[in-house]
Parts: sequence; structure tokens; C-alpha cells
Amino acid sequence: MEMKAMAPNCGVEISGVDLAHCSDSEMQAIKQAIYEHGVAVFRDQEFSPEDHIAFAKRWGGIDINNYFPLTEQHPEIAVVKKEADQSTNIGGAWHTDHSYDQIPAMGSILVARDLPPSGGDTEWAHMGAAYDALPDDLKAEIEGLEAFHTADHVYKADGLYAQTDMGSSLRGQDLKTGAIHPVVIRHPHTGRKLLYVNSAFTIHFVGKTREESLPLLQRLYDAALTADNQCRLQWKPGTVAIWDNRTTWHNAMNDYQGYRREMHRITLSGEALAA
Ligand code: OGA
Ligand code: MN
Repeated sequence: MEMKAMAPNCGVEISGVDLAHCSDSEMQAIKQAIYEHGVAVFRDQEFSPEDHIAFAKRWGGIDINNYFPLTEQHPEIAVVKKEADQSTNIGGAWHTDHSYDQIPAMGSILVARDLPPSGGDTEWAHMGAAYDALPDDLKAEIEGLEAFHTADHVYKADGLYAQTDMGSSLRGQDLKTGAIHPVVIRHPHTGRKLLYVNSAFTIHFVGKTREESLPLLQRLYDAALTADNQCRLQWKPGTVAIWDNRTTWHNAMNDYQGYRREMHRITLSGEALAA
């Protein structure tokens, strides 16, 4: 197995491994690499839906996504798709999956199933590198803060997606979500400090209104995205990406209008987060 960094501070490409048949020691090395680099990319994989599920179970539990359509044969798999005649995509803004859950998902395993002829890349940004690069006064300002996260404004019947041509394909419009997490968490395995707010699901700091919270949130969001803490993946048939939702944000490019794109996602269960 070989590992090559995708960018100085984010992402690793792992070659020389067959994910569907990897050994326990390879699995261990893959997990460690994802905890550190935030995302790992694997090329030329033969990875059926059954392989996808079996591999996910080796990590631990699977979190069923409440919003995306599930494949009929495999309810563990969420379908992340955009039809040729739809203009809005899923995940088309910087976010991290499921931060609105009490115990947010550890990560996601995304498999390319149908790709546009070009475009449709995914970007990740490393929140450990983002935290490290914050100016000291900003680090001091967020020390000990907690923030409230929810997905209601995105998925509910009057939410963001409902106003678009993506709305009718989503489920779970009557759900209510909400969780409070520290603004800076420690990675449960590496112990590294990570900035844990994101502009899709973080609403306000605990003890402050949305309005009072926005200026500081915006400063954090602006500081969190720098060219050298990001990496970008150009998908090909057979590409699989696995990312750590605590360590990274991600963003799905929506630059392939008129073409279809379909991905399969399994969301991996996480553990309680702490500062
Ligand atoms: C997701 C997501 C990114 C993509 O599945 O959580 O944001 O590129 N997808 O499809
Ligand atoms: Mn996502």
C-alpha cells in the first residue's frame, strides 16, 4: 500500500490496495491516514453496493441518512444524485455531514456511480490546519465556546432545498434536529484540535443570538478556507473517497449542468465530541 499526499495539509491518495478485500492491518493504516489527512482517495476500485456495506461495517456502525433517497435494495446506502434536468446539487456549499446530530457521523464513504463527462469535482478543507492557522486573538476568542447546529433550515418543507428543483427528491421534511458542540473539538483518535463550526449547519453560539453570532462565525469561516489547507478530487469511474467529518469540510462543485451525476454514500457512525 502506498500513500501520497494530495496537497500540503489535506488529503491522501492511497494506492496498491483492494478496498473490498483489504486486510485488518491495511484497514488500520487506512483509518489512521484518514484521521490525520482528513480524506483518502482510492482509484480503480471494484466496489459493489455489497462491498460498500461490508467495508463500512468494518469501521463500526452505519448512520442511515434521513434526507437523501436510499437505494431500494440497500437502505444503508444514500443516493447523492443530480439528474440532467436538475440545476441544484446536494452538498454544493462548504459543510460537514451530520454535525446537527448529538453524536455526529465519523465520516462518509462516497463511491462514484455515474459521472458527467467533466466537472463534478469535490473539494475538502482540513479543520486542524484551519485551527492552527487562526490568529492567536481569534483562538482566544473561541476558547471554551459552544455552538448550536441544526439541519432544519436546509431540509424542512419550507427550507433551502424545498425552494429548488432538488426539493422533491428529498425525504425527512418533518424531522427536527439540533445539537450543541464545542467550537473547537479534539479529534477522538489523534487528539488534534479542530475547528468545528460550518456555514451550512451551525446557527449560533450558545448564549448568543444568530445576529450576535454571525460576525464571529463569518470571521471563522473566512479564516478556515485557505488555498493550502484544501485538496480537490477529480472523480473517475472506480474512485472511492472516505473522509473524516470531524477533520474536514467538503464542497461538491456544481459545474456540469445538463449532465447526470450519481454517487453512493454510506455514513459512518461517530463518537461523542469533546473540547
Ligand atoms: C455528500 C456530499 C459531495 C459530492 O455526499 O455528503 O456532500 O461531491 N457529496 O457529491
Ligand atoms: Mn456532504
